[in-house]
Amino acid sequence: MPQTNNKVALVTGAGMGIGRAAAKALLKGGFKVVLTGRNLEKLEKAITDIGGSNENCLAVTCDVGKPEQVKKLFAALKERFGRIDVLFNNAGIGAPAIPMEDLTYEQWMNVVNSNLCGTFLCSQEAIRMMKAQSPQGGRIINNGSISAHAPRPMSAPYSATKHGISGLTKTIALDGRPFNIACGQIDIGNAATEMTERMAAGIMQADQSIKVEPRMDVEHVGEAVLHMAQLPLETNILSMTIMATKMPFVGRG
Ligand SMILES: NC(=O)c1ccc[n+]([C@@H]2O[C@H](COP(=O)([O-])OP(=O)(O)OC[C@H]3O[C@@H](n4cnc5c(N)ncnc54)[C@H](OP(=O)(O)O)[C@@H]3O)[C@@H](O)[C@H]2O)c1
Repeated sequence: MPQTNNKVALVTGAGMGIGRAAAKALLKGGFKVVLTGRNLEKLEKAITDIGGSNENCLAVTCDVGKPEQVKKLFAALKERFGRIDVLFNNAGIGAPAIPMEDLTYEQWMNVVNSNLCGTFLCSQEAIRMMKAQSPQGGRIINNGSISAHAPRPMSAPYSATKHGISGLTKTIALDGRPFNIACGQIDIGNAATEMTERMAAGIMQADQSIKVEPRMDVEHVGEAVLHMAQLPLETNILSMTIMATKMPFVGRG
């Protein structure tokens, strides 16, 4: 595996779930890791849980949907570690599974802000740093979803923003080329986190029936993110799907 000593990764939504698993794998892979999310206590606990220290990890609170907070996050990262090599845009939420005509504007905007605006704002700041730093460049990994391809019932805000992520991934991959900036997307299906607990309990299928769905260990997702992150910059995984093998997706069910 390539050497990653002194490389710096930023993981959004790193206090739990996939973000924490990715931070753990990146740390094990030799990255210095900046963990961000809205809750400092969760971030600090995550650093302890993954075996990090003040030497190789930094916790910074930030709501990724708020431009001023994102600017402060990148200023803190720059002050502490000087550069950014990998940004994992992972922070994300869903809205209640109710008919879209019953959603409030606020419920819609919460999802748009966390999932889409957050990815846009963090990518903007990362691109500015990656263009200016020496050696130039870096990698952005966006967390899409199986919902970037096929929606679940009553998931308009989530599915719309995850389709939007695919557009951002492709435009960053294109516009980043002259500056040695690679961009790829990981589309995950049913990793065992708090977000997918309802799948273990039984979740609505396309035909409105309720079925229990299999999930997979979130650690595999962390390892997959590390694999994408460790590639040399002339190589890019544009799109990776990692999913519970037996979950409904392929074959219309
Ligand atoms: N689990 C899966 O099977 C699966 C499948 C497809 C895609 N995904 C995607 O993977 C990502 C993580 O999912 P997960 O399953 O790990 O969910 P999770 O356990 O609910 O974690 C979500 C994380 O995002 C953070 N977050 C949410 N909104 C934020 C905001 N505005 N600013 C900063 N941080 C924010 C949360 O931290 P705070 O609340 O402390 O801010 C939390 O750490 C999401 O983008 C999700 O759509 C997951």
